[in-house]
Amino acid sequence: MTKIRAAITGVGAYLPEYRLTNDELSRMVDTSDEWIMQRIGIKERRILKEEGRAASFLGTEAVKELLQKTGTSADEIDLLICATITPDMPFPATANIIADKAGLHHAWSFDLNAACSGFIFALTTATQFIESGRYHKVIVVGAEKMSAITNYKDRTTCPLFGDAGTAVLLEPADEDVGVIDFINYANGMGRHYLHMKAGGSLLPASCETVKNNNHFIYQEGQTVFKYAVTGMADVTVEMMEKHHLSADDITWLVPHQANMRIIEATARRIGLDKNKVMVNIQKYGNTTAATIPLCLWEYEKQLRKGDQIILVAFGAGFTWGSVFLKWAYNGEMFA
Ligand code: UT7
Repeated sequence: MTKIRAAITGVGAYLPEYRLTNDELSRMVDTSDEWIMQRIGIKERRILKEEGRAASFLGTEAVKELLQKTGTSADEIDLLICATITPDMPFPATANIIADKAGLHHAWSFDLNAACSGFIFALTTATQFIESGRYHKVIVVGAEKMSAITNYKDRTTCPLFGDAGTAVLLEPADEDVGVIDFINYANGMGRHYLHMKAGGSLLPASCETVKNNNHFIYQEGQTVFKYAVTGMADVTVEMMEKHHLSADDITWLVPHQANMRIIEATARRIGLDKNKVMVNIQKYGNTTAATIPLCLWEYEKQLRKGDQIILVAFGAGFTWGSVFLKWAYNGEMFA
């Protein structure tokens, strides 16, 4: 019996309109456009400003676009997995809320928390349901309102993050396309260097936790940077060696967009020309679980059926991983 493969058959996204520029940030904290461009490579990021709108709003808008452009009815969706670290609320799952708002009446749904590796982990989870033969249409959402957990008085973290919603449709592939392999890792020792201290069962919200800024991202930047550079490059090389791929065999590398220097180091390590690396960090910053699908969405028109693509991410946990896939359609069909 031939194995069923799962293929991405469409990508949707939603970006809030508000652009937080480096110049505006420079008026909020002691930083500059020059420092941010040199050390991170971000020019601006989108921020969801409207009151009452959260990650589910971003995810729902992305799902609606995805259903519309792929001509899929909401009732056809079997399962929705939402990768997020900025859920609307601790429970219920943001995936449940998105499914309700987007009218997915026949889908069950759950959230997955793997921070910046969230999309890779959710995609590889969703792939298993398609490969089992029991599921035919699964949506993977990456939706983050990072501005809700970013401290705009902390110059070491506030330039990094942005908000976005993304969604991809996964279906069984009937040709030689789709997800071929994945390699995922997690190491909980990374929790010391990148986390949010309060709001969980360890340190529930109190006046004290609010006063101490414990509901914001805490990051030891340099340490995370070192692990990220090694982790992203190592898992990309591991995937290439496993499948006997040279840089010439790769049509696109789609790296998590955390820092331009990490992206460049990964590409350099595998000897890949920068024209083959998807980059949009300058426009959106680090949107955590949304960066990789946001790249696929932006570059979609350039993608061709059969393109050999490696997705790679590293994030809090630590979590990291890569996916090797063959693209399933000519992107210009959605032009
Ligand atoms: O996606 C999840 C994983 N996260 C990541 O991959 C992020 C990994 N880390 C990074 O990208 C980088 O570590 C940062 C961008 C966060 C920081 O860059 P860095 O080159 O590692 O800077 P640093 O922390 O070593 O700080 C260097 C200097 C310090 O000043 P002193 O102590 O040398 O006087 C900082 O206070 O830069 C200062 N600094 C800033 N200066 C201007 C830190 N942030 C800023 C800022 N503007 N925004």
